[in-house]
Amino acid sequence: MNQQFPNIPNDLSAFWMPFSANRQFKKAPRFLVAAKDMHYTSADGRKILDGTAGLWCVNAGHARPKIVEAIQRQAEELDYAPAFQMAHPKVFELANRLIDIAPKGMEHVFFTNSGSESVETALKIALAYHRAKGDGSRFRLIGRERGYHGVNFGGISVGGIVPNRKMFGTLLTGVDHLPHTHLPKRNAFTRGVPEHGVELADELERIVGLHDASTIAAVIVEPVAGSTGVILPPKGYLKRLREICTKHGILLIFDEVITGYGRLGTPFAADYFDVQPDIVVTAKGLTNGVIPMGAVMVTAEIHDAFMHGPEHMIEFFHGYTYSGNPMAAACGLATLETYKDEGLLTRGAELAPYWEDALHSLRDAPYVIDVRNIGLVGAIELEPIAGAPTKRAFSAFIKAFESGLLIRTTGDIIALSPPLIVEKTHIDQIVDGLRTILNTIE
Ligand SMILES: Cc1ncc(COP(=O)(O)O)c(C=O)c1O
Repeated sequence: MNQQFPNIPNDLSAFWMPFSANRQFKKAPRFLVAAKDMHYTSADGRKILDGTAGLWCVNAGHARPKIVEAIQRQAEELDYAPAFQMAHPKVFELANRLIDIAPKGMEHVFFTNSGSESVETALKIALAYHRAKGDGSRFRLIGRERGYHGVNFGGISVGGIVPNRKMFGTLLTGVDHLPHTHLPKRNAFTRGVPEHGVELADELERIVGLHDASTIAAVIVEPVAGSTGVILPPKGYLKRLREICTKHGILLIFDEVITGYGRLGTPFAADYFDVQPDIVVTAKGLTNGVIPMGAVMVTAEIHDAFMHGPEHMIEFFHGYTYSGNPMAAACGLATLETYKDEGLLTRGAELAPYWEDALHSLRDAPYVIDVRNIGLVGAIELEPIAGAPTKRAFSAFIKAFESGLLIRTTGDIIALSPPLIVEKTHIDQIVDGLRTILNTIE
């Protein structure tokens, strides 16, 4: 154990950290050792304001009593039950509670353990649905440039973040991509949803023209792209995608792993944009990030297409050992209860104007080339250092941590997504902190 900080190990070599600059971290580690409500505690005992809800997942804030109690109780009562051909009651209860708050049209839930698994599940459901209907020639999947749909092979194939794709061979075949909707020349410093770019949805017509609709199973998009650095859909864009999908019999999948569970000030982005997808992919906020879990919601039409053949037969050859496991289900139920008790799924709507004003006050801070916001999501895009992309934002991240603020950076974009229990004073702290940091970095 480390002599200076007894709560951190001395030897950091064995653990290969995910999505991290391992060598940099191990030279100057940043350890979090505790958390409560809006704050983490670092190994050296400092309070760190959580500006990112962990990784976009701790929507109710940290160590919430109902959630802590529920998982403690569940561990004693029923730790695990087989997920295949057997069940435990709470997973059914959770599916029902989810459907109560789900976007219009969603009637059935398939549980997974992460956003990535939810994406794979949704893509497989889309392909199998068409085949079950006798439309098996629909094998193509359409994603979008700069899209993030997790890290498994289906997700990186439909995703559009280059470093996540380029090292990994041929990926899935039969995939095409819509253009991304980041138009800084036309939309920089827009407050909320940008005016320009609805015509980018028409690219789907071009793709349909190229491949023919009879070969296309589904389109998958994040309603608001998060991990690539917060890219918003132009006004009318998602509605247009919906219309084109409907016209051609293509399923529309919303990846709401980030936007789900109140992030935009509505329960889901489908509610915010008033667009009804066929499949909704979720994870993260479902369990407040406490126990890994994802959920894929589908319409009755999709679900019912599978419910044919002899009744003793498995209808969908897919599932995970931990799909809907008792610990995760208990955690999910307590999370949804916390959201309900505290009105968190819509709280973002009240705070969004204050959040927007606060973020846009950084417009004139050094290096800022764009500010974007929606609900309780924000992005500050910085001008990259010539020849050293990502370096400026990374030094902002390090400085922020040193000064007691957790932010997230992708490329040269600072992304913000505080827990939905955030107060105005915390928003002031985040923005004042960032202003100071931008004034000190190079
Ligand atoms: C839109 C989206 N889809 C999928 C994922 C993958 O989720 P996970 O990391 O839980 O596999 C993420 C994670 O950030 C995401 O933002």
